[in-house]
Amino acid sequence: MKRYIDLIQQTFEFPTREFGIDENNSLLFNNVPLMPIIEKYGTPLKITYLPKITEHIENARMMFRNAIKKYNYKGTYTYCYCTKSSHFKFVLDEALKNGIHLETSSAFDMPIIKALHEEGKISKSTYIICNGHKRPQYLEYISEMLNDGFENLIPCLDNLDEIDHYLEHVDKAEQVQIAIRIATDEEPNFPFYTSRLGIRYKDVDEIYLEKIKPNKRFKLKMLHFFINSGIKDTAYYWSELTRFMFKYCEMKKICPELDSIDIGGGMPIQTSVVFNYDYQAMIDEIIENIQWICNKNNVPVPNIYTEFGSYTVGESGATLYKVIDIKQQNDREFWYMIDGSFITQLPDSWGIGQKYIMLPVNNWGLPYTKVNLGGLTCDSADYYNTEAHSEDLYLPMFDEEIDDQYIGFFHTGAYQESLGGYGGIQHCLIPATKHVLVGQDEEGNLTTELFAEEQDAESMMKILGYRSKRKKAEKLKLD
Ligand SMILES: Cc1ncc(COP(=O)(O)O)c(C=O)c1O
Repeated sequence: MKRYIDLIQQTFEFPTREFGIDENNSLLFNNVPLMPIIEKYGTPLKITYLPKITEHIENARMMFRNAIKKYNYKGTYTYCYCTKSSHFKFVLDEALKNGIHLETSSAFDMPIIKALHEEGKISKSTYIICNGHKRPQYLEYISEMLNDGFENLIPCLDNLDEIDHYLEHVDKAEQVQIAIRIATDEEPNFPFYTSRLGIRYKDVDEIYLEKIKPNKRFKLKMLHFFINSGIKDTAYYWSELTRFMFKYCEMKKICPELDSIDIGGGMPIQTSVVFNYDYQAMIDEIIENIQWICNKNNVPVPNIYTEFGSYTVGESGATLYKVIDIKQQNDREFWYMIDGSFITQLPDSWGIGQKYIMLPVNNWGLPYTKVNLGGLTCDSADYYNTEAHSEDLYLPMFDEEIDDQYIGFFHTGAYQESLGGYGGIQHCLIPATKHVLVGQDEEGNLTTELFAEEQDAESMMKILGYRSKRKKAEKLKLD
């Protein structure tokens, strides 16, 4: 009978740059042997391989550099990290080693920015692009930090009234740079025609002419656009980029200080071992298109900013489980039950059908079988049974009496904790997993560091109100 390794070698070019197996037929992830980590910390376990973050930042910068050189593009490229993809300090610490810039999306990002500044990880010249629909607290933080000398903090206007707050409250900054997020049209299969995020094309001139231009200290520096479905080689992406660039050129003619565009996030990451996205070709084409449109309009090319979230952090993450039970519920369906939950720990897999690279961690020398993976909650939707490249899911056929089977989901480093409500109350009170950081010391030795233990019952008891007395109810005054 064919072994799991034979199946993989028949299906993919294996080993890959990122995945291989060792002499014990166990998985290597970026040359990190996973079994010793599991033996040391147990499962369920999330790991973050920190060097991947730097690798991706370097790659993106290199590819933009290549494209800029190839087309003799006269603008610059600036890498910002979109904090909402993973707010964890270890992610920001690693990313900021590379002197990158940041993008925020909520009032609650701002204490993080301040803490990073206090620690000397960013300076007052670091670009902080503040996106999102802003509630009063967010507006106040932005104004306060602008007054405090964060010279490259750029509020990105999401609606027509946002600027009024800055006009009224930012009184100490000599110069305030403003961005406008332009609402893109959604993909044709989306339930809405135009995104609710940002300001519609028609209103951009008006807000500039009426509210920004008359105020000497305020300058429109940047136009921003973000395509929700990501940077993809589709007619839709190119037509939105083209429309956006024509608007940039039109605005540049009435607003000479406008000199930048932010093309958002959406750089894809690998969701299958077979992955044919040509990053360099895509970046080349973006640069070429931007330049072509600017030349056609006799306008200097803009400096380009990106806010890559998933691309920065996604591929650094892995989520490891043990198969704790094998269930056969009829003649055809085999369930491998895991010691965690898809709904709570990998919520994108449940909410939007996101696929990840899924591989067994050990037993690659055993024969394989088709399985469904079942999570621990009582919800029948807590399962995973297809891959990005295949309708079937295969894992080693192991004997529960003799072997333990561990499996891994890879590239899970973005969004899963914030969507799952890390450390909170989750379905069936499934706890947040243990989390281990994997890195390298100065001599190149692998290191591990326990970032967080598995969530305990006590933390849930507190959140649920079992550890505090309820306050006396107050009579509600009705006029
Ligand atoms: C405005 C903005 N920028 C950047 C991002 C990051 O996107 P990604 O994680 O796909 O790079 C998002 C994600 O929703 C976003 O809304």
